[in-house]
Amino acid sequence: MAGQHEMRDGACPPGACSERWPMDPVKTDRESSEKIAAGKRDSLTVTDNRTGKSYELPIEDGAIRAADLRQIKVEEDEFGMMSYDPAFTNTASCYSRVTYIDGDKGILEYRGYPIEALAERSTFLETAYLILYGELPTKPQLEEWTWHITHHTFIHESIKKFLDGFHYDAHPMGMLVSSVAALSTFYPDAKDIFNPDSRRKQTYRLIGKMPTLAAFAYRHSLGLPYVYPDNELSYSANFLNMLFKTTELKFKPNATLEKALDVLFILHADHEQNCSTSAMRGVGSSHVDPYSATAAATAALYGPLHGGANEAVLRMLLDIGSVKNVPEYIKRVKGGEKKLMGFGHRVYKNFDPRAKIIKQVAYEVFDVLGRNPLLDIALECERIALEDDYFVKRKLYPNVDFYSGLIYQAMSFPMTMFPVLFAIPRTAGWVAQWEEMLQDPEQKIARPRQLYVGDRRRDYVPIDERQ
Ligand code: SDX
Repeated sequence: MAGQHEMRDGACPPGACSERWPMDPVKTDRESSEKIAAGKRDSLTVTDNRTGKSYELPIEDGAIRAADLRQIKVEEDEFGMMSYDPAFTNTASCYSRVTYIDGDKGILEYRGYPIEALAERSTFLETAYLILYGELPTKPQLEEWTWHITHHTFIHESIKKFLDGFHYDAHPMGMLVSSVAALSTFYPDAKDIFNPDSRRKQTYRLIGKMPTLAAFAYRHSLGLPYVYPDNELSYSANFLNMLFKTTELKFKPNATLEKALDVLFILHADHEQNCSTSAMRGVGSSHVDPYSATAAATAALYGPLHGGANEAVLRMLLDIGSVKNVPEYIKRVKGGEKKLMGFGHRVYKNFDPRAKIIKQVAYEVFDVLGRNPLLDIALECERIALEDDYFVKRKLYPNVDFYSGLIYQAMSFPMTMFPVLFAIPRTAGWVAQWEEMLQDPEQKIARPRQLYVGDRRRDYVPIDERQ
């Protein structure tokens, strides 16, 4: 069994080393100004009623450039018009080719491949390659990719001392955020972000080490010794090994659970410009190393409205307690007192396609591990919500988090590990989006504007004269 060692030049197994790296930068075919002049392109004509002036704003890919609004002024020395969009609900921050979502039709595609096909026929590592490189790997490419990820699963022994410093009941997501950031201190070469070879090595390290950091955090919370990676196991099986191996010499994963976890990883791998990906891109735009940017993305995912929702769903189902209590809980939700966690989505105004697949995986896992009694409560919540006008009017459907927690609980994961299980696969998406941002010639450091409505030019008041 090959030992753990840094990637050596020429150490790749047979098969072309990743000649697809770096990816093609996102190019956008800007229509020529000649076309504008000839009136041959789409445009928006706006009239400023304050001045009576009209402006023609080019429409590209269904959007106008916010910068084109700056020409709209009353006085020449003004800053110019801005758009106001709290939480960026209607603002495109970038061009991307990674993930396509159609929220009304419940469509999700990675690099154009439907999520349903990938969940059924691919593996997480193959899907991660697709998300990062833009194409499904050939056999040699997949072998090389798997070899590199497998040989970057170990973490520096000093990180164990760092993890041991956490309180026994530290939330594993807080440990993961901290330990991912700590990786930046072990790999100073990661600062060389415009070197494709360096970015490729950090990609191997991040995707390879996230499961190890996650498993070590889990073992710490149980007071159990850390289990080192087993290079003979698949990505998902090795994660189960590092989590659940006890005194046996060789961990033997349950094939159904290994497959279920791999499908869950595929479903969580990327989701275009969500909160954590925007954090990855935003923090990465300062040209910090990818470990620090990934720590920021992991922190964003920790929130209960984002990746922490699957943990919140389980707590909600336990709080409801039984099927007969569901109507009362739904009433509290409709009264605005509670949210139906695992329901609703900023983009999906139809079923989250991932939720449908996860629901199927749940039944397969329960066939092996026994039915989770909370499933009946979840199914009753879904049944009522899909009929009730409060939810139908707001287009609130089950999202990716509604059923995933039931599977994780059945697989003996504590609730605190649920967002960690989201962060592991999403690292592939975060890194792919970070790569795309770095290579996009239009991107620069993220720095939104504001509409200032506070006080101005106030005189300083000596402390004895203050009210
Ligand atoms: C993820 O962005 C992504 O892609 C994220 C994600 C990914 O893969 O990265 O898909 C993963 O984060 C899934 C979402 C997990 N979060 C939850 O399940 C938490 C519960 N859901 C909500 O908090 C909410 O639906 C959001 C945060 C997911 C979306 O919120 P929006 O788009 O800002 O919508 P909103 O809060 O403006 O809600 C619109 C209306 C409001 O009612 P009114 O003010 O119009 O009366 O719908 C209501 C909200 O109160 N509403 C809910 C609700 N979600 C929205 N009411 C009850 N229960 C809910 N879950």
